[in-house]
Amino acid sequence: MQNQSVLETRALSTQQIQSLFDFAQQMEASYEKTKNFLGRAQLAPPKVVANLFFEPSTRTRLSFEMATTRLGLSCLSMDSMSSTSLTKGESFADTILNVAAMQPDLIVIRYGDSRELDELLPTLNIPVISAGTGVLAHPTQALLDAYTILKERKKIAGERVLIVGDIRHSRVARSNVDVLTRMGAEIGICGPPLFMPESHLFPHVKRFNRIEDGIAWATVLMGLRIQLERHDSKEIHSEKVVKTFTEYEINLSRLSKFIDDGIVMHPGPINHGVEFAPGVLQDQRSRVLSQVTNGVFIRASLLAHILDLARI
Ligand code: CP
Repeated sequence: MQNQSVLETRALSTQQIQSLFDFAQQMEASYEKTKNFLGRAQLAPPKVVANLFFEPSTRTRLSFEMATTRLGLSCLSMDSMSSTSLTKGESFADTILNVAAMQPDLIVIRYGDSRELDELLPTLNIPVISAGTGVLAHPTQALLDAYTILKERKKIAGERVLIVGDIRHSRVARSNVDVLTRMGAEIGICGPPLFMPESHLFPHVKRFNRIEDGIAWATVLMGLRIQLERHDSKEIHSEKVVKTFTEYEINLSRLSKFIDDGIVMHPGPINHGVEFAPGVLQDQRSRVLSQVTNGVFIRASLLAHILDLARI
């Protein structure tokens, strides 16, 4: 995996994903023992990771920064676009080329739908990790979700994962369907008709019209928010549509039909009262904050693999 870019989950073989999980687990054990992700290994001089976030983020940006810091690497972060020359009219492409010209060892990038940037990134002579690409890909979210399922349910193969919500506009759903299907899970999807994807995009998933049927089937329940920022039609912005969305809300009454040892997940941010009713985050099956903790180890594992540091 050394020097490899990861712009979508398909860039990784299942063997590579397993190797990421194994090393994340080793780092968790090392951190518990030595408070150091890489044991006592010294890293000198520190490699530099450049974080370019052209869209807002809390979890992904900060957990990449946390992972970078815990590995003993240096981090450059563009955390406020308003303080960059983008405000003077510089393009995203030129910004990326200029940062790449400073020769960081790796670039982490989040951006909206852009064919120009999709084509530019593979031409850089620096490895690039997608921290979210339009509606297309969120590879590290899918990896941390799969890792969470593995840790909590002890396996991925045979798990029945129900994804509920705005599937059509979700890069998380796309990347999760790829990783989890390849690792042997079955995927179900459920949401208001306007938020369901066209069938050719998700050919091998089960579709549930009633959330109750999906919850009775699932061992893992994953809620998604409405991705308002990615909607182009007026209809989808209407209050009626948001109200329809709440008809697919995960609430405590529906959770009473979910298996006792199942897990409830959400990539965040959560809209309380829309996709999650009050009390769901606190349910003993919720692993939403464990997903965030696991995200640091998975991102550290991916960085360490690409930067050839994956030994303790
Ligand atoms: N899950 C996720 O991508 O969250 P952020 O947008 O806060 O990074």
